[in-house]
Amino acid sequence: MVSAGIARAMIGGQSGRQLIGCQSVTHGTHQADLNYDQRKTQSDWSEGSPGSRSFRASEAGTPLVEFRHNIEIMHGYVPGEQPVPGSGVVKLNTNENPYPPSPEVTKALASLDGESLRNYPDPTALASREAAASVYGVPADWIMTVNGSDELLALLARALLEPGRKVAYPVPTYSLYATLAEMQDASIVEVLYDERFNLPLEELLAAQADLTFVCSPNNPSGTVAPLSDLKVLAAGLRGVLAVDEAYADFADENALALVKEHANVIILRTLSKSYSLAGLRLGFGIAAPELLAGLSKIKDSYNIDSVAIRLAVVALNDQTWMRANVERIKTCRTEIMRSLEGMGFRVWPSQANFVLARPPGGDARRLYLKLRDQRIFVRHLDLPGLDDKLRISVGTEKQQQALIEALEGLVP
Ligand SMILES: Cc1ncc(COP(=O)(O)O)c(C=O)c1O
Repeated sequence: MVSAGIARAMIGGQSGRQLIGCQSVTHGTHQADLNYDQRKTQSDWSEGSPGSRSFRASEAGTPLVEFRHNIEIMHGYVPGEQPVPGSGVVKLNTNENPYPPSPEVTKALASLDGESLRNYPDPTALASREAAASVYGVPADWIMTVNGSDELLALLARALLEPGRKVAYPVPTYSLYATLAEMQDASIVEVLYDERFNLPLEELLAAQADLTFVCSPNNPSGTVAPLSDLKVLAAGLRGVLAVDEAYADFADENALALVKEHANVIILRTLSKSYSLAGLRLGFGIAAPELLAGLSKIKDSYNIDSVAIRLAVVALNDQTWMRANVERIKTCRTEIMRSLEGMGFRVWPSQANFVLARPPGGDARRLYLKLRDQRIFVRHLDLPGLDDKLRISVGTEKQQQALIEALEGLVP
């Protein structure tokens, strides 16, 4: 069994949730990426509390629609706040790329022929898989194209989790993992990272889950799980190890090589971050063909539209542009880390396009709200171990200057 100091919190579905770590923390709701104003808005239009019926007949109180029990009691995933376009907000809250995508993508978009939309797209999105294959150095049948890497996370949950089956992942991390597990009514084992975000290898191995997620670089810490640790995990787990590498292009190392050695490993990549194409909704799963075959059975037949397939090929073929943007972001990352540390923030060593920072005194919520008043959006994640910290996406030099100037007036 796992180490001492285990805290269990049975929340949600019948399969329940276990939180393993050195602190006794009751994991609250999964409104991880929900900020205070959104929560307020949400409570204005919904009945708010978990367990409430989603729709009620006005007089009798009879439910019109009865969802599965675990759906009734779960909170859905709430994406980060998107300001009104053109509102001039300095947007450093959702880890988008502040620089435009390749000009070749813009050109290809402008030259698209409407007539080509008459037909369904290629259900296997082969052209995009071939372009990705040459970037990732694996054959095209080791690649699956998905509608954003979120789709692949959902496919993994649907294919591998159900009541009585187990998912495990270290926390704090990308909160969609919990939402997807709740949807499947699976047993959830959350293992707390230590305060340096070292991978809790022993506990993850002990959990022997059907599906283990490791996000590397981890959202929201930006820290990387060492390849040596992931190798041990891949070899020691009987279930599937999904390494979510949405931010890998900003990092010094990645776990791509593991798929060739371990049939139970799948790597997730996306064009949303390093390629500046979050709006396109395109990602990839890289794994042995047998694993991908299971996932392909349950995907939408035409999960990638023909426009996205075409633009993905063009984006992947312009590695020079992507690499140049990544280098600019790394330079800005060093600058923002240095500026924040100079103001007394504790900053975790990030290898992503965002940084996690604890302000002096730890009143992150006040800072988040004050910055928001000045139309600067950063992320405050109201989760155990995170409520005294801010996650700040790396921006352009100008955006970061605006942030630092605002902080100078707010941080004592
Ligand atoms: C860790 C992580 N994985 C996956 C995603 C989803 O990316 P995509 O846009 O490819 O769906 C995100 C988005 O922010 C993320 O932070």
